[in-house]
Amino acid sequence: MAVFVTGGAGYIGTHTIVELLENNEQVVVLDNLSNSSEESLKRVTMITGKTVDFYQGDILDSDLLDNIFTTHEISAVIHFAGLKAVGESVEQPLKYYKNNVAGTVILCQAMGKANIKNIVFSSSATVYGDPASLPIKEDFPTGATNPYGQSKLMVEHILTDLANSDPSWNIAVLRYFNPVGAHESGLIGEDPNDIPNNLMPFIAQVAVGKREQLSVFGNDYDTHDGTGVRDYIHVVDLAKGHLRALEKLNTAPGLVTYNLGTGQGYSVLDMIQAFEKASEQTIPYQIVARRPGDIAVCYAAPEKAKQELNWQATHSIDDMAQSSWKWQSSNPNGYES
Ligand code: NAD
Ligand code: UFG
Repeated sequence: MAVFVTGGAGYIGTHTIVELLENNEQVVVLDNLSNSSEESLKRVTMITGKTVDFYQGDILDSDLLDNIFTTHEISAVIHFAGLKAVGESVEQPLKYYKNNVAGTVILCQAMGKANIKNIVFSSSATVYGDPASLPIKEDFPTGATNPYGQSKLMVEHILTDLANSDPSWNIAVLRYFNPVGAHESGLIGEDPNDIPNNLMPFIAQVAVGKREQLSVFGNDYDTHDGTGVRDYIHVVDLAKGHLRALEKLNTAPGLVTYNLGTGQGYSVLDMIQAFEKASEQTIPYQIVARRPGDIAVCYAAPEKAKQELNWQATHSIDDMAQSSWKWQSSNPNGYES
């Protein structure tokens, strides 16, 4: 039996596949390489000494899904495939709804047809919007402020309806907080296509000399140093959470939802400082206006995942900065180098 991983050539996918292979799972990957390259999967093989069955194709292609599901014996699906750039989603909402929402519907239809009914879905802390209190628990109200977030929330609702309609589905909705860092080997990591939208890859590119300076979006938030606070989670911790979620699905829980975060919030300036320490470089930055849509503080209540999945994050902020620096400094141009 194999685990089918959509979007497996991407950032979180590759790290999760390493953990799956090291746990002696067979892995089948589908990725259209719209935001990744096949090189990432070659690196996975370098790390693990194992290979995956790779299909370059799209989750919107139901014939291809049918073909994969008849060729391979699949026990469960981890569904990472999705577009994730918030700004782009505002400019091109239909692209996001088609890819993220319609793509998931097509995937679930093909799964149902093949009688594969265990799925782990990549959701996001963005579904909590601006939380009324902290830390954020899974039962907090949801609401999204942009089409990307809406697409995640819509899929959560669709999966809930699906589980209600047919109790033989087992679905783990994982709400990631802010994934950062890289595998300790330095062979795989986050490789943004364009100018990074997110803080850590931007800092890493400044440290390696690819960008002149970081813009810090606002220092007048109600936080310990005025800059935004987030729950950064090491991608390897996050990856391990997926294996625990797969184990949970084997107990036939129906639909379950978990925060994957550390429970600890760090500011933008905290992250800069950690990166400066790890890289022994100065990170030049300037304070600029707040970024529209940003919230002041966001961090998880991680207890539910600890209790029910026996999972908790173990990597520190220094581990995140060091591994990120190792990846960026050994691959200044990402997988192209
Ligand atoms: P990523 O872009 O590195 O990986 C996503 C992969 O999916 C890419 O390799 C891309 O080529 C592929 N893909 C996209 N659309 C596809 C399609 N229609 N068919 C086949 N493949 C397709 O992103 P990531 O950071 O690894 O994120 C993985 C998932 O986690 C995404 O669904 C994302 O929305 C979600 N998520 C990410 C974050 C984050 O900050 N990285 C936070 C919360 C949730
Ligand atoms: N920031 C800067 N400068 C930058 C980039 C970010 O100061 O160049 C700040 C932001 O203002 C924020 C913090 O760094 O305070 C983190 O920003 P990110 O863009 O790295 O992350 P976000 O919390 O805004 O959002 C990310 C993803 C979302 C996802 C969310 C929760 O982009 O898609 O984490 O998982 F929903």
